[in-house]
Amino acid sequence: MTFDTIDAVQSELGDTGYICDRALATVVFLSQRLGRPLFLEGEAGTGKTEIAKAIAAALGKRLIRLQCYEGLDASSAVYEWNFAAQMIAIRTGEAKENLFSDDYLIARPLLEAMKPQEGGAPVLLIDEIDRTDAPFEAFLLEALSDFQVTIPERGTIVAPEPPIVILTSNRTREVHDALKRRCLYHWVGYPNFEREMEILQSRAPEATQQLSEEVVAFVQRLRTEDLFKKPGVAETIDWAKCLLALDVLTLSPEVIADTLGAVLKYQDDIQRLQGSEAKKILDDARKSIPAE
Ligand SMILES: Nc1ncnc2c1ncn2[C@@H]1O[C@H](COP(=O)(O)OP(=O)(O)O)[C@@H](O)[C@H]1O
Ligand SMILES: [Mg+2]
Repeated sequence: MTFDTIDAVQSELGDTGYICDRALATVVFLSQRLGRPLFLEGEAGTGKTEIAKAIAAALGKRLIRLQCYEGLDASSAVYEWNFAAQMIAIRTGEAKENLFSDDYLIARPLLEAMKPQEGGAPVLLIDEIDRTDAPFEAFLLEALSDFQVTIPERGTIVAPEPPIVILTSNRTREVHDALKRRCLYHWVGYPNFEREMEILQSRAPEATQQLSEEVVAFVQRLRTEDLFKKPGVAETIDWAKCLLALDVLTLSPEVIADTLGAVLKYQDDIQRLQGSEAKKILDDARKSIPAE
């Protein structure tokens, strides 16, 4: 399965609940057409990880995720030998001749993504690449340039068909140019009011139009404040769900004060909204809601 057009990307991702704007749909389409990895950079909670899941679901492909973290090295990203099992095999004399067979090979995400799969090449999500370091980036660059990995005891394993690769970064640091150059790049920004309404209606359809509009307008207005950490789309959805759980029908400064922890995750930011500030932002937000 592939996406035949940019419209198909939008509508098929839409069917999985993912709201994709035209620019994002275009790079998704191109990345698949040209067989180039897609590099998505943007603030946390703007739907970067989610789109990889949506693409896999829409195309009926397996999703393989490599979650990056500080100190991640090539061996934990590609494969490891199960030393304990090898030792036991030697002890019990079951090792026969091959200690480097599949029985003892633990495939990590990159190797897994290169193996032949039912349903064709998988979607490989390399998530939060900004958490790793330069040597790991250099290693990835190599692996992504020819879609093959080498295991000294076994030789080189070449992907029968290149996976669809999506890299994400929350931009806690700049990722090296060389890696970016290999990819198609797209900045995932906060959605505008209309798009965030669509996303909220897709993710929290139980919320009324009025509550959804107030929540989205409030969060949109909040993002214009000088905050330590601005709320992402994830926070908008969480907040709406909290309000629903509390049977809230409309926002008020009191409700906001009681539930702000769903939206802002730093005490300094929460403090800013104390006193009359929440009411002011709510008033602004209400005024910004477009009339039908
Ligand atoms: N365009 C979108 N369409 C549907 N849901 C979205 C969209 N953007 C974000 N979300 C929701 O927001 C949440 C956070 O998105 P996520 O992909 O984890 O953010 P990121 O990886 O950019 O930090 C997801 O659970 C998803 O449901
Ligand atoms: Mg993410």
